[in-house]
Amino acid sequence: MSAVIFDELNAIQRQHGYLPSAELEALSLRMGMPLYRLHGVASFYPHFHLAPPARAELRICVDMSCHLRGACELKEGAERMFGGLSEKEIVVRDVSCLGAAIPPLLCRSTTHL
Ligand code: FES
Repeated sequence: MSAVIFDELNAIQRQHGYLPSAELEALSLRMGMPLYRLHGVASFYPHFHLAPPARAELRICVDMSCHLRGACELKEGAERMFGGLSEKEIVVRDVSCLGAAIPPLLCRSTTHL
C-alpha cells in the first residue's frame, strides 16, 4: 500500500511542483485513506513539498562526520551569500546524511539563478 501512496504523491508533485491540499483531499477520497495519513507521509519525507518550493534549495548535511568537516561553516557561508534573497528564491536546509560526506551539500534547482 505504501508504494502506491508514494507513486500517487510523486505523480501529483511532478504535475504541480508540490502537493496542493485539494489534490491530497481528492487522493484521500480516491484511495479511501484518511487525509491525515497522506499528510503524515507527505510531511515526513523532505522530498515532498506541501507548498510551492523555492526556486532553489541547498541541503547541507549537519551530521557528525560533516560537522567535523566544516558543514557549519559551509552553511554560514551559504546563508551570507544568499541571505538577501527571499525564501521563494532559495532555501538553505539542514539535513541528515546525504550519503556523500564530502561535500556535505545537495543543491536542487527548478530554474537557474
Ligand atoms: S554524514 Fe554528511 S553526508 Fe553522510
